Amino acid sequence: MRQTVAFVLLLLASVATPSTASTTTTTIWATPHESYSSSIGALGCKLNTNRVAYFPLAPSCSSLCIRLTHASSGRSLALLRIDQSDGAHDVSYDAWNYLVTGASATDAPTTGGAVAMDYEEVDMDECAELIHADGGKLALSASNSMNFLFSCLEGYPDGWLAQNYALYNVLDPICSWGRDELCNIDWGGGANQPTCPSTLGVPAQMGADDTVFNVQYGTGRLVNASDGQVVEDGVGNGSSGRARGAGLGLLGPLLALALGIHLQIT
Ligand SMILES: *[C@@H]1O[C@H](CO)[C@@H](O)[C@H](O)[C@H]1NC(C)=O
Ligand SMILES: *[C@@H]1O[C@H](CO)[C@@H](O)[C@H](O)[C@H]1NC(C)=O
Repeated sequence: MRQTVAFVLLLLASVATPSTASTTTTTIWATPHESYSSSIGALGCKLNTNRVAYFPLAPSCSSLCIRLTHASSGRSLALLRIDQSDGAHDVSYDAWNYLVTGASATDAPTTGGAVAMDYEEVDMDECAELIHADGGKLALSASNSMNFLFSCLEGYPDGWLAQNYALYNVLDPICSWGRDELCNIDWGGGANQPTCPSTLGVPAQMGADDTVFNVQYGTGRLVNASDGQVVEDGVGNGSSGRARGAGLGLLGPLLALALGIHLQIT
């Protein structure tokens, strides 16, 4: 009902003012971003990590979708705004590559710096296909997204996020640790902690099905985000060169250490 009313109003607005857009378009200088991350704990194994915007403004409870348009070609993409940058307007490398050249970075990687793009906030519907958790919900970490989720449940109970989140027993946004299982929080019943089939925050190694791949800057190779290894046959294996790259073998243990510390203090 509310959606219908909003739609009619939007329709009236666009009829009344045919030449002026109702949304604000801002020009930014977009730079490529190689490694997936999410300040709100959105799980990379359940969304398209090649379509993420890393912008200065903190992700909000109601608007997590933007449309970015390459100023000179007019090519555009919808992107999820689920991380916050220190000031740069970063975009997933693959999205940046596509906007700038028209090709995926896995097929024809290019390099470069800041490129002028126009961005506007758009309806979450435009980002629907970027979200892969069941029911079109945004998957969040049951152990590490609770501050953000609580702020949305409390402050914006009718907002998109409060109505469309799913909690998983996964510890980190790149899905290295935890279990791929749904958790619940009885928010209405006063619970302040989710319940999961296994222990909340169990640091089990996640399966290969949940691996998050980053697209390596300049080469377009797919890199396992958990251990830094270049994968030989990943999704879209169109990149040249399949050598196993210099692995970040320390990353796993370091992460485990960091998570161990985290588990102790929570
Ligand atoms: C990615 O790395 C992790 C940690 O080494 C491993 O458990 C996982 O199976 C790897 N994924 C793939 C697809 O090789
Ligand atoms: C991907 O790998 C498969 C199997 O090795 C191969 O048949 C296919 O041509 C490759 N695709 C590209 C785009 O290189």
